[in-house]
Amino acid sequence: MNAEGRTRLDQMPEWQELAKHRDEFGLTHLRRLFEDDPERAERYTVRVGDLHIDYSKNLVTDETLRLLRQLAEAAGVARLRDAMFAGEKINVTEDRAVLHTALRTPESATVRVDGENVMRKVHQVLIRMGTFANRIREAHWRGHTGERIKNIVNIGIGGSDLGPKMAYEALRPYTRRDLTFRFVSNVDGADLHEALRDLDPAETLFIVASKTFTTTETIANAEAARAWLLAGLGGGDTSRPEAGGEAAVAKHFVAVSTNAEKVAEFGINTDNMFEFWDWVGGRYSYDSAIGLALMVAIGPECFGDMLAGFHLMDEHFRTAPFESNAPLLLGLLGIWYGNFHDAQSHAVLPYSHYLSQFTAYLQQLDMESNGKSTTREGGPVNWQTGPVVWGTPGTNGQHAYYQLLHQGTKMIPADLLGFADPVAELGDLRDQHDLLMANLFAQGQALAFGKTAEEVRAEGVPEAQVPHRTFPGNRPTTTILASALTPSVLGQLVALYEHKVFVQGAIWNIDSFDQWGVELGKVLAKRLEPALTEGAQVPDLDASTQALVDRYRSLRGR
Ligand code: F6P
Repeated sequence: MNAEGRTRLDQMPEWQELAKHRDEFGLTHLRRLFEDDPERAERYTVRVGDLHIDYSKNLVTDETLRLLRQLAEAAGVARLRDAMFAGEKINVTEDRAVLHTALRTPESATVRVDGENVMRKVHQVLIRMGTFANRIREAHWRGHTGERIKNIVNIGIGGSDLGPKMAYEALRPYTRRDLTFRFVSNVDGADLHEALRDLDPAETLFIVASKTFTTTETIANAEAARAWLLAGLGGGDTSRPEAGGEAAVAKHFVAVSTNAEKVAEFGINTDNMFEFWDWVGGRYSYDSAIGLALMVAIGPECFGDMLAGFHLMDEHFRTAPFESNAPLLLGLLGIWYGNFHDAQSHAVLPYSHYLSQFTAYLQQLDMESNGKSTTREGGPVNWQTGPVVWGTPGTNGQHAYYQLLHQGTKMIPADLLGFADPVAELGDLRDQHDLLMANLFAQGQALAFGKTAEEVRAEGVPEAQVPHRTFPGNRPTTTILASALTPSVLGQLVALYEHKVFVQGAIWNIDSFDQWGVELGKVLAKRLEPALTEGAQVPDLDASTQALVDRYRSLRGR
C-alpha cells in the first residue's frame, strides 16, 4: 500500500492473475485462436468515429481482456480520467491541471481550472488565430516592405515543432500550395540555413513557438532568424531605413507562448503573441496556438474540423464502457505485451506517406510521457513502463527492418494504419493505392499466421533451407483503418494515442505529464559550452568528457 492508499501495482491480485493467465496462455497461436472462433475478427473490432480498429490479431482471449479491464478498474483509470477532464491537478510533480481536452471542447461547455471557466479564453485565442491565418492567406498581412507573405517558418522544438510539422505533412492536400511552410527546430545551424537559403526575407514570416520561451534551441534560432531578416531587408546594411529594426520585426515575427514577459523581452510585440496555458503540456499542444502555422496552411475551417475529430475521441474515451473503449483497449494491449511478455518496443507503421512524421510525433507523446521510473508518490516502479516507440511509413520499412519483425527473436507489437481512399490530387497515381493497401493487409497476415515448415516443404524447398524460410507468426498487430486522412480523422487518431498513453501511465502509476528527465542534459550542455568555446575549466569533469572536449577543441584548431 502506498501513501495514496493504492496497493503496489505488482502486488495487486489483478496483476497476479494476469501473470498466471500469461503462463497458462503460453504459446497459444493466433492460428488456433482464429480457428476456434470464426467470429473473432468481428468481435475484436471496435468502431469509433471514422476509425475501424481491428485488434483481433493480438495474443488475447476474452479472458485476457477481462483480466486487463479488471486491472484498469483496480488501478483507478476511470477515476484519474474523470479527474483530468474535470481540471484537477493530476500533473502532481508540477502541480498543474492537464487539460489539452479543453482545447477542442465546444465553447458552450464549462471547464474549470482553479474555479475559472477557461472555455472563453480558449475560443478567443482560436478566433484571433483564425483572423491572423486569414490575413496571411488573403495577403492582407504584408511584410515590412509591402510584399505578400509567401513563406511561413515555424521555429520551435519538441512539442512546439513535432505536432504542427506532423499535421502539416499529414494534411498537405488540404494546405495552400502557393505558400511555403518550413519547420526549424535543431540548434545545428544547418537546419535554419537550409530552411532559409532560398527564401526572400521580404516575403517570410516567422512563428516563434515555445511554451516557455526560454528553450535554448528556439531562442538561438529565433535570434539568428531576426538577424537574417534585418540583414536581408537592408541588403546587409542595417542602417538603411528599409532594414526597419523593430518595425520590421513586428511584421515578420509572431510568437506562440505562455510567457508574455519573455516574448516582449525578445522584441516581439505581445499584440502579435498567441497565448496558451500551463495546463497544456508541450507534447499535447499542437491543437492549441502551437498549431498556428498549421492553421495558416489548412485554414481555420479545416483546423476546426480537426479539433472536432479530437473532441469526438475525447468524448468516446470519457464515456464509452471499458469493453468498447478504444484508447483503453490499446493501452491495455500495450500493458499485456510490455509487462507480461517482456516486449520492449512498439512499432507504429502508417501505410500513408502523408503520415511520414506521425511516429516521430508519437515518440515524444509516448516516450516523454511514460519514460519514467518513479511512481506518482515518489517511489521506485517495480515494473516496466513506456516502450520504445518507433517506425516509418510502409512500404519502405518492409525493405529495411521488417525482417526482424518477422523472424527476429524479439516480440514487437505493431500498429498498422491505412486509409481506403487515396488522395484525389494523386490523379493516375491513385492506381497504386490498392498495391499499398495489399501490402498493409499482407503484413498483418504474415506476422500473425506465419508460414509453417510443412507449408514451406510443400513448396519443394530443399530441406536445408526450410528453417530459414519458415515464419513463426504469432506476432501481434492492431490494424487501424479509416476511409481517408481528413483533418477530423487526424484529430481522432492523435487523441486515440494521447488517451492510450494516459491509460498506461495511470496503470503504471507514473506522472505522464512532467518531463524532468530532459533537464539534466540541458544543464550540463550549458555548463560545457564555455569549455568548448573558450577552453574554460569545468569543475569535476569526468576524464572521458574532458578528453572529448579537448579533442574537439584541437580539431577546431582552438
Ligand atoms: O525539453 C523538453 C521540452 O520541454 C518538451 O517537453 C517541450 O515540448 C520542448 O522542450 C519545447 O519546449 P518549449 O515549447 O517551452 O520551447
